[in-house]
Amino acid sequence: MCGIVGFTGSIAAQPVLIEGLRRLEYRGYDSAGVAILQPEGALEVVCRKGKVSELEHTLSHFNFKGTCGIGHTRWATHGRPSEANAHPHVSCDGDIAVVHNGIIENFAELREELKAAGHTFRSDTDTEVIAHLLEEAFKAGCPDLTAALSMAAGRLVGAYGIAVVCDREPGTIAVTRKDSPIVVGVGAQGSYVASDIIAMIDATRDVVVLSDGQVARLRPDGVDFFDAAGNPVNPPITHIDWDMDTAEKGGYPDFMLKEIHEQPRVIRDTLAGRLDGGSISIDELDMSSEELHLVDRVYIIACGTSYHAGLIAKNLIEAWARIPCEVEVASEFRYRDPIITPTTLVVAVSQSGETADTLAAIRDARVKGAKVFGITNVVGSPVARESDGVIYTKANKEIAVASTKSFLGQVVSLTLLALLLGQSHGTLTTRQIKLLFSELADTAEQVERILADDSAIQEAARACADATSALFIGRGMGSAISYEGALKLKEISYLHAEAYPAGEMKHGPIALIDEGFPVIAIATRGPVYDKVVSNLQESRARGAMVVAVATEGDEEIKRHADHVIYIPKVRDAFSPITASVPLQMFARCIALERGCDVDQPRNLAKSVTVE
Ligand code: F6R
Repeated sequence: MCGIVGFTGSIAAQPVLIEGLRRLEYRGYDSAGVAILQPEGALEVVCRKGKVSELEHTLSHFNFKGTCGIGHTRWATHGRPSEANAHPHVSCDGDIAVVHNGIIENFAELREELKAAGHTFRSDTDTEVIAHLLEEAFKAGCPDLTAALSMAAGRLVGAYGIAVVCDREPGTIAVTRKDSPIVVGVGAQGSYVASDIIAMIDATRDVVVLSDGQVARLRPDGVDFFDAAGNPVNPPITHIDWDMDTAEKGGYPDFMLKEIHEQPRVIRDTLAGRLDGGSISIDELDMSSEELHLVDRVYIIACGTSYHAGLIAKNLIEAWARIPCEVEVASEFRYRDPIITPTTLVVAVSQSGETADTLAAIRDARVKGAKVFGITNVVGSPVARESDGVIYTKANKEIAVASTKSFLGQVVSLTLLALLLGQSHGTLTTRQIKLLFSELADTAEQVERILADDSAIQEAARACADATSALFIGRGMGSAISYEGALKLKEISYLHAEAYPAGEMKHGPIALIDEGFPVIAIATRGPVYDKVVSNLQESRARGAMVVAVATEGDEEIKRHADHVIYIPKVRDAFSPITASVPLQMFARCIALERGCDVDQPRNLAKSVTVE
């Protein structure tokens, strides 16, 4: 939520900042702004409500020559989206500018204190207090911007990634963080800071992921790092192995479609090297086979789409390892008193690795004595750092706000974990593991086949595009898939959609059905196929327009559905991998039919760093 960027170097900062903000726009797009130190010493601040393109248009009239600046793209928390609330925020004298990602929880007290000391506030944001605290820090005798930022940060309660510039220190950007990501890198033309490596990936792939409390001073020729007490430190360099292609659409009309098409590669990369002889190897888990054998309860905690990946994994873990597995939304888990013992394994699933509720749940679980295993897509993210072990999902950067390829990466990673638990508990034989692994690997090619022909999906989507509501149903694995299908549809097309286990239809939701009401059913051949078909008959008898996701070769289903989307035959355990792909495409087609921006749906941001 919110993206920050900064550059100081030998070339004009304006285009670097705009390009960086464009790539960070997935983090929020309510307003955007920059502060640039001009060669003659003036600090120029320009903000616009709306997307980065609005800001870019305005800046094209100025074309600032300054080589040092900071920028921000906002997802509003405190204060509605407006120009006054857009970052950067400045001090009373206009000599200091601040961009911030996160939430300052004690901003109200600080604001009162600063007002009483004579400071005038121009916005409703929590961030503005930082600019005024920096002024106070200089008044208190701080020798430079880095020291002033350390002092100001010492007053803050909450989560923050902060970058600041000051006209008294041309060429310097000071940054710090707590619970919000900050990445720093040095390229041939200068030093960069951003919320995400993607903003600087064409300049460098060797970065420092700042730790909580660390402060960095960026200069055109390099970066110095300090701990919270001001002592110099030498943080490790993280090498990123994806490149510029990820940040570009590569010929696709939108990032969502590009990312949907990357899924066969994600499956292959996530599985690479995981079957060692006849056994599953996840060394990153950092647990001996004896420790794993003792695990007697699994909790999967996550939010949104990642939670749906957890629902799928529950079925696999219980079926293959015979261990009770609960899946819980992180925002609920963190405020409950779940039963956790030293033999509980908590699995935290988060694409961004930044989700505030998931992080809080991880901390809580560890305090209670659980081993926590993270599954995330972002190297060095807070979820990775705060878990005892981590699997990276190998999706590479996901830019469209709606999760597609990282969801599939999560499902495949969780499937590996279920196999590992089955192995450690002796409930799966080596032969079974080899067979399951090879069928899992085959899903990459099966997804390729689904992607090769989307005509049935398009036709079904056109038929549903004008609906006001839709119901997704399924049983067993199909019900977990339905939840994800409904979420994808509502978040990008704004068409209200609900998911229900098909067996629950008669307990309420069937009342929704009347002439032409879309019912989307996961009706693949599996243990509960006949039951789902009965639900389809009941729905059609009441006028529903049925779209069935069904198994290739199933002719019978045509008698029960208005539209059939065929997918290759797979074992029921792997049906979430194949069945979720057409539902992603279905949601995208409907969103486009309805004229929606599929990459940047309204009100959403890709990483939810606040509660
Ligand atoms: C939906 C979507 C969200 C996220 C949720 C959790 O497409 O992407 O529902 O899954 O906000 O985010 P992460 O996985 O980053 O913790």
